[in-house]
Amino acid sequence: MPETYNPQLGREHSYPYEHREEERDWHWGMIININRCINCNTCSFACKSTWTSGEGEEYMWWMNVETEPYGGYPMGWDMRLLDDLGENETIFEAAEDGEAAKGYIAQKEEWEYPALGDDQVHGEYPTGDVVESDLEEDEYHDMWQFYLPRLCNHCKNPACLAACPRKAIYKREEDGIVLLDQERCRGYRKCVKSCPYHKPMYNPETGVSEKPVGCFPRIEEGNVPRCVSSCIGKTRLHGNINRGPDAGHPGGNTSAAAGRSPVNYLAKSDEKIALPLYPQFGTRPQVFYMPPYHVPPEFLTQMFTPNTEDKQNEWPGSTFEESVKIVQDRVRNPSHHTLGILQLFGATTRLIETYTVKEHRVKGWDRKGNKVVDIPFEEEMEVREGEMWTNQ
Ligand code: SF4
Ligand code: F3S
Repeated sequence: MPETYNPQLGREHSYPYEHREEERDWHWGMIININRCINCNTCSFACKSTWTSGEGEEYMWWMNVETEPYGGYPMGWDMRLLDDLGENETIFEAAEDGEAAKGYIAQKEEWEYPALGDDQVHGEYPTGDVVESDLEEDEYHDMWQFYLPRLCNHCKNPACLAACPRKAIYKREEDGIVLLDQERCRGYRKCVKSCPYHKPMYNPETGVSEKPVGCFPRIEEGNVPRCVSSCIGKTRLHGNINRGPDAGHPGGNTSAAAGRSPVNYLAKSDEKIALPLYPQFGTRPQVFYMPPYHVPPEFLTQMFTPNTEDKQNEWPGSTFEESVKIVQDRVRNPSHHTLGILQLFGATTRLIETYTVKEHRVKGWDRKGNKVVDIPFEEEMEVREGEMWTNQ
């Protein structure tokens, strides 16, 4: 089987498709700051009302928000697949004969509870009042939960694409968006089975499958996807994940002093502040998450870092858990540069191609070189001297 280099794993592995992802100039990418998500599901309903409100699409939530650690749609999708993979094994390496990837088709009852586990925390309350100040340190609860927005990752090694015997799924040249041609589809459901994130879905009314479209009509017009523009928590930033530090100026406009895109910086700069979800599956997902900083790193380690020695060597920590802790600390105490980029989240519905952070001002430009954002920001905090609280 052909091999491909996977930079998220730091090694080569098999990928059963003759197409090789070239590092094209423009590729769809998204950053989600989990710390800002409040599970309001505005994104989910914006997506549903735009794309999946027809017959046979009732159960299709291309965009959904799960409560970790107990939620999941379909039910238990991640743990079930992880249990089937060997150590350091991608879904392609674990595939059985005749299959492109290891996977499974979720049954009807697994799709019945999109909000299962909502607001169910991990851990227990101690007896007594949890806000009492005379509790010993080890009596405090270790409760935590967080919200995980999930969507198609427009992967660079898409399992859905590799699995379709009809070649009905393709990756667009211009932006890497992975689309399903419903005219070609014959409902074989290999895509449904192979996507480890369970985003292609079969429509029983039409007899063919459907998958998320990355809001491509909006991208073509220079706007961000609806889940990004509708997010009231300003959790997201969308743009060109491939536009690195060496890229030129957009539209020849040299006023955009930096050539890099902000999503590229957060996901790929040395700061390493946004991480892919379950990279160990091997599909090279292009949605990157700023991890929640209140959650035990041992839980996040499995979710956001690949279990390979090669990758470990690239990280500043000596163990994966320490690496995640470092990322959590960076998210909690962002650098001045990252703080500037954080102002761009939800600041405009236009797609920000490039940006600059200079002193206390962040600016963003679209693909044509037009300035679309210009925001001042401060990070200093003044702490007043003297007593904060009195017993008056
Ligand atoms: Fe395909 Fe699934 Fe990757 Fe989306 S997340 S591109 S449906 S493999
Ligand atoms: Fe192919 Fe999936 Fe249709 S495998 S034929 S795109 S159901």
